Amino acid sequence: MKRIGVLTSGGDAPGMNAAIRAVVRKALYEDMEVYGVNYGFAGLVAGDIRKLTRRDVGDMIQRGGTFLYSARYPQFATEEGQLKGIEQLKRFGIEGLVVIGGDGSYRGAYALTKHGFPCVGVPGTIDNDIAGTDYTIGFDTTINTVLEALDRIRDTATSHIRTFVIEVMGRDAGDIALWAGVASGAEQIIIPEKDFDITEVAENIRRGREKGKKHSIIVLAEGVMDGQEFAEKLDSIDNFHVRVTVLGHVQRGGSPTARDRVLASQFGAKAVEVLKDGRGGVCIGLDNEKFVEREIIDTLDNLEHKPNLDLYKLNEEISN
Ligand code: F6P
Repeated sequence: MKRIGVLTSGGDAPGMNAAIRAVVRKALYEDMEVYGVNYGFAGLVAGDIRKLTRRDVGDMIQRGGTFLYSARYPQFATEEGQLKGIEQLKRFGIEGLVVIGGDGSYRGAYALTKHGFPCVGVPGTIDNDIAGTDYTIGFDTTINTVLEALDRIRDTATSHIRTFVIEVMGRDAGDIALWAGVASGAEQIIIPEKDFDITEVAENIRRGREKGKKHSIIVLAEGVMDGQEFAEKLDSIDNFHVRVTVLGHVQRGGSPTARDRVLASQFGAKAVEVLKDGRGGVCIGLDNEKFVEREIIDTLDNLEHKPNLDLYKLNEEISN
C-alpha cells in the first residue's frame, strides 16, 4: 500500500492529534503518502480530503481536540453512504484508511472493509469503553482533568461541610468515575456496572459525619442518572446540603497527558504497519501492556468492555 487516509470520528479525545501525527510520520518513514479526511465519515462522503505533509502535523502533539475535526454521522450506517465513501477514497488513489474513534467509528471501519476497502481501527474516546483494549486515547487526560476538578471541589466542600455529587461523562461506562474517584479519595463512586442503594449512600454520609468528616464527595457516572436527580433522591432522605456539579465538556478538552501522547503515537504507528502489510478489518489495542490486533467485528460483537471493578472494591475498603 502506498497511499493511505486517516480520519477521526465520534466524540473528540485529547491525543487524537498525536495519533494523526504518528500515522503521518510513520507512513512517511515507510515511504507511503497520507491523506487526511476532515469531519469523520461525513467529510468522507462529501470528499473533504487533502494531502497531509510532515509539516501539517508539526506542533500538533500537544494540542487537544482533533485538527481533522470530527462528527457524529449515523447516516454512514447505510450502504449508500459507505459506497460513496469508498468512491471518494478511490478518487484520491487512497488504498487503506485509519479510523480513530469509538465503537460507532469501528462500525464504519468494519463496513468499509466488508466492501473490500481495508480499514484499521484505533481506539480514541475519553470513555475508555471499547472492548479489546485496556485503554483508549484520551482517557488518561480526562481522568486527570476530572481529578483536578474534584480536588478543587473538595476544598470548598470541606469549608462548608457539604456533600457534593459530581456528574462525570463516560456514556454507559463507569471508567472515568472509577479512576478519578479512586484518585481523588472520593467517599463514594456510583457507576452503571454496580447497583447502588440510595439509603446506603445516605447512611455512609451520616457515618462519615459522625466520624468527623467535613465533606462527602460522590462521583456519579452519567450512565447511572443525572446529578440533579441523584441529589434529589438523597435530599428526600435527609438534608445533606447537597450541591451538584456537572463537569460536562470540559472533560473532553485540553492538552493530552504524556501517557495519552505516547499511547496515541504507538497506536498510530501500529495502524500504519497493518495497512502497510495490506491488511484491514482489524483494530489496535493494549492488553496487559502488550499491543494486540483484533478483528474489528470480534471486538464489536463478541467482546465486552468491563471496567476494573477491583478499583470499586478498593474504594469501598479505603475511602471511609
Ligand atoms: O463519547 C464521549 C462523550 O463525551 C461521552 O462521554 C458523552 O456521553 C458524549 O460523548 C457527549 O456527546 P456530545 O459531545 O455529542 O454531546
